[in-house]
Amino acid sequence: MEIENFRAATVGLGERSYHILAGEGLLARLGEAANRYVPDATGCVVVTSPDLDQLYGDTALRSLRRLNPARVLLPEGETAKTWGWAGRLVSSLIDHRLDRKGVVVALGGGSVGDVAGFAAAIYLRGVRVIQVPTTLLSQVDSSIGGKTAVNHSLGKNVIGAFHQPSLVVCDTSLLKTLPKGEIRSGLAEVVKYGVINDANLFATVEEKADRLLSADAAELEAVVARCAAIKAGYVELDERDTSGVRATLNYGHTVGHAIETLNRGRIRHGEGVAIGMVSASRVSVEYGLLHVGELERQANLLGKLGLPTRVPTAASSRLIKIMHRDKKAESGTIRLVLPTGIGVPPVTRAVPDAVIERSLEA
Ligand code: GLY
Repeated sequence: MEIENFRAATVGLGERSYHILAGEGLLARLGEAANRYVPDATGCVVVTSPDLDQLYGDTALRSLRRLNPARVLLPEGETAKTWGWAGRLVSSLIDHRLDRKGVVVALGGGSVGDVAGFAAAIYLRGVRVIQVPTTLLSQVDSSIGGKTAVNHSLGKNVIGAFHQPSLVVCDTSLLKTLPKGEIRSGLAEVVKYGVINDANLFATVEEKADRLLSADAAELEAVVARCAAIKAGYVELDERDTSGVRATLNYGHTVGHAIETLNRGRIRHGEGVAIGMVSASRVSVEYGLLHVGELERQANLLGKLGLPTRVPTAASSRLIKIMHRDKKAESGTIRLVLPTGIGVPPVTRAVPDAVIERSLEA
């Protein structure tokens, strides 16, 4: 199949527009994709982590051989998201003499994408980046939209830049080797898109939950392509997250991030988001914005996907404290994205602590 036929979506941002490719076997065709969509690239540095390098590094480098690729490794996961690692990565780009026409290739999950994207944003005042996400979470969300960042000791993603990729390549066959927990975690974000944007997508996940959980490549490919198109729409409307439109992608995330913080790496992102979506839905029901049947439909689907829907411990007051530190807390009140139906745009409201506490303890 021609490489053009893998185009799942386009993010239309004028001169910063780019395509998202999705399909099986694309890693081995990375070079072909780069030749087609970033034709003037003169060289590249592939940034990945040791485990992914073992699995996919050689395939990626072989495919990119026209660009004389170098390989740079970052530590696994969130550990890489530091100012120090971003600095070391920039030093490697200098060592490898990447020039203005060179490309950074981020081969990994959200953390690799964030650090490599950030280094690309600041190196030589910005070089191009190709995102090659390897997890379901990063294929449906973080690789698209140009948010790049590292953490500061005083906060997550505090140091960063908007830097749109020049191409996103989602090889859905890479998802087959993911632990089931990672697939579940990514599916929480898919359910999120269903609730805030696309009732058909929600119904597809309900109908095909088992096949998606067993990483059925064809089903995942269709879901990744649909989510990419949905995310592209939000980015086009609100590239720099200022109008409130893109912020609705944070449905379930305010409570979810607090749960992740409280559980310090012992809970996956999608698990926190699943609990957060149910909690926000309970608030919506209390405010008369959502029918209780729509809350139950979400909780049932998340349960079917093996995702949690309740806070693990009696921790609501600690969670609320963490949420107050969250950047979305304005003038002392926590703001939540509240669903108004399945497949219907949500609203964002300031919600009193007592209401959130009730939603967490229900
Ligand atoms: N992950 C939310 C956003 O890209 O805005």
